[in-house]
Amino acid sequence: MTNTVFENWTDELSAGWRTRPVLAQHNLDRNPLFSRENLARLIETYPLDHHALVHVSHRADKTRVWREGEIGELSGGEVIEAIAAGKLWLNLRNVPEVDSCYRDLIDGIFAELQGYMPDFETYDRTMGILISSPNASVPYHSDLPGQSLWQIAGRKRLYLYPAQEPFLPQAELERIALYGIEVNMGYDPTYDREAMIVDLEPGQMMTWPLNAPHRVENHDCLNISMTSEHWTADIKRSQQITMANGVLRNLFGWTPRSRRITGPEYVAKAALQALARRSPWVKRARRTRRPIDFKLVKSQPGIIQDIPAYTR
Ligand SMILES: [Fe+2]
Repeated sequence: MTNTVFENWTDELSAGWRTRPVLAQHNLDRNPLFSRENLARLIETYPLDHHALVHVSHRADKTRVWREGEIGELSGGEVIEAIAAGKLWLNLRNVPEVDSCYRDLIDGIFAELQGYMPDFETYDRTMGILISSPNASVPYHSDLPGQSLWQIAGRKRLYLYPAQEPFLPQAELERIALYGIEVNMGYDPTYDREAMIVDLEPGQMMTWPLNAPHRVENHDCLNISMTSEHWTADIKRSQQITMANGVLRNLFGWTPRSRRITGPEYVAKAALQALARRSPWVKRARRTRRPIDFKLVKSQPGIIQDIPAYTR
C-alpha cells in the first residue's frame, strides 16, 4: 500500500477497533495539508457557513459563556496567532467538501483502514479541523457517527467514558439525535474514576466505541487537531433507533426499552424516525443557532471586539 497514513499498524488495533478505545500512530502532523501556511490559506478562503469561531469565557459562578464571532480583517496566519494568545477555537467543518485534497485524504484513510479490516465498510466520511487555544476545553458530550480524534500540533488530554449507563443515559443520546445538541450532557466528576485518560501527542490518533462520551482539555499550548466522522450500516441503524426512541419518549411519553437494529420493530422505528425528521417540530428545534456578536482585532492577538449581533 502506498501513501499510508497509519504507522506501525498491528492486528491488535484491527481487533480492538469498534469495540474498545484504540490509540494509533499517524503521519498527518508531517503532511503538508496541515502545515501552518496551508491552514492559514484555508482559513482565509473558508466559506462562512462551514466554520465556527467561538470565544469561551466564564461567569462568576464558573458557568461558561460561548460566543460566536468572525475573523474580521485578520490574515489566516494572524487568526492562528490570535487563537494561540486567546480563549478561542476555530472549527473548520466539512473540509473535504471545501477542498478536494482533503476528500482524497479522508477517503484514502478509510481505504487504508478497510485494507486492515476488510469488513469495515464506511460511507459519508468527513473531517473537520479544530484549532484551539492553550487550556481550552470541550465539555462532556457524545457523538452520533463513528468518531476519531487526530492530533496534529500541541498536546491535549482526552477523557473517554464507557458507552453505557450512567455515563451515557439513553434519554440524553436521544436528545442529541432529535435536536442536534451535542454539548452539555449531564456530567458528574465521579465519572472520571471510570475514564480512560490519554495525553494525545502530535502523530497520535484515538478512536472509541460508538457514542462513548468524552471530553477534552488542552495543555498549555496551541492545539491543532482533526476530527473524522464515518458511518456504517450498523451505525446508521443505531442512530435511527436512537431517533425513534427519542420520538417515543418525548412525544408519546413512553420509555423505550429496546435498541434492536433488526426485525419488525427496527423497521417500524426506521419509518417513525423518517417521519419525525421531516416534521416541523424537529426542524424548528434544530434551527436555533448562536448569533455572531464579536470579531477578532487586528494587531491585538486574542482580543475580541463586540459587533452588532446577527445570525447567518
Ligand atoms: Fe466529540
